[in-house]
Amino acid sequence: MTPEQVALVERSLAAARPRLRELAADFYARLFDAHSDLRALFSSDPVAQQEKLAAELDAIVSAIPSHADFLVRARDLGVRHARLGTTAPHYRMVGDALLEALASASGPGWTDELAQAWAAAYALVAEVMMAGAADAAEDAQPAGGPDGAAPPAPRNA
Ligand code: HEM
Repeated sequence: MTPEQVALVERSLAAARPRLRELAADFYARLFDAHSDLRALFSSDPVAQQEKLAAELDAIVSAIPSHADFLVRARDLGVRHARLGTTAPHYRMVGDALLEALASASGPGWTDELAQAWAAAYALVAEVMMAGAADAAEDAQPAGGPDGAAPPAPRNA
């Protein structure tokens, strides 16, 4: 990502923050409309959903300006997600719903540059998360077990 893209993403998150409740509702509605089987993974409590979305956006935005510990934190986050039952195809589903919800919250401020900057930020963090999860699965794999992924955790709502 370019420094301009990092700045664009940071500014747009600051601008979207006052509308986080609507953004979260919109994100989950989009995600579950398109992939209703994902409902079981997430809390159904709207307050918890809002907090989770804020944590997710903060994790993306704080990770991208190439902080020294970015790789470690994003890989750990990916390992925790694998334990929750998150698989590689889920990243695309969540990324699509997230970008659509951000676009909707940004209105006319959603330019092509901003869309590309968010897509790059999400892809960067998601790729490191998936790599961390894949490495952890490989390390933890019992001899002969091809699947690697941890079983989904029980839902928490
Ligand atoms: C770039 C991509 C993503 C980022 C940065 C991200 C970030 C986060 C963060 C920071 C949390 C809070 C808990 C923690 O720190 O472990 C969280 C929770 C969670 N994430 Fe993600 N996430 C991403 C993608 C996904 C995907 C693809 C899924 C799967 C569909 C997912 C499912 C969950 C679930 C189920 C929780 C627990 C919260 C709940 O029960 O609602 N996330 N995520």
